[in-house]
Amino acid sequence: MTGKFITFEGSEGSGKSTQAALVLDYLKSKKMPVTLLREPGGVKISENIRKLLLDVNNTGMGDECETLLYMAARAQMVKEVLEPQLKKGQIILCDRFLDSTIAYQGYGNGIDIKTIEQLGLFATKGLSPDLTVLFDIPPEKGLSRAGDKKDRIESRSLEYHKRVRHGYLDLSKQYPARIKVIKVDADKEEIFKKVKLYIDALLGL
Ligand code: TMP
Repeated sequence: MTGKFITFEGSEGSGKSTQAALVLDYLKSKKMPVTLLREPGGVKISENIRKLLLDVNNTGMGDECETLLYMAARAQMVKEVLEPQLKKGQIILCDRFLDSTIAYQGYGNGIDIKTIEQLGLFATKGLSPDLTVLFDIPPEKGLSRAGDKKDRIESRSLEYHKRVRHGYLDLSKQYPARIKVIKVDADKEEIFKKVKLYIDALLGL
């Protein structure tokens, strides 16, 4: 693999998508070969799976089905874009990846973490980010930013979202070299300055 793989993680309303877009603009301004993806989604089949996952009418979806659908969306995105583009030397930015499944389905829903890791290996072909920026915000604050029209996952209880946050912070302690935590306590320009330091260090800018 010659490219670089950077993921953006965090709870609802953490501003990670805004930061991912700022990084995309920044790297484009440097004429770097960069692509921004999101999960679940990024390619047509995975975007269709996203609709199933986030549809509030799918009240009966079991935790196992939910986990497998996130993995299925991931497997398709990896096969269609991530693996081939990394091989070509592209810098791939991804708004969420496997850490999301560990935090939301593992810590949040109680699906066995080892099982998620095994399914993750299958779906990702063992591809793991070179850098993960984790945006940390208390769920009370983050959810209020999500607005009134909440999707199937956002609609879950505050307790659920607290477990997700705890999961992310646990992961950052487990993988301190890869996962860099940024507290969401300033405006987006200030936060971006911090993100840029990690991006520059990884890419030698
Ligand atoms: P987004 O709102 O950041 O686009 O993400 C979509 C929702 O899907 C968000 O509520 C987090 C959730 N999610 C999981 O529960 N597990 C996963 O593996 C991924 C990628 C997202």
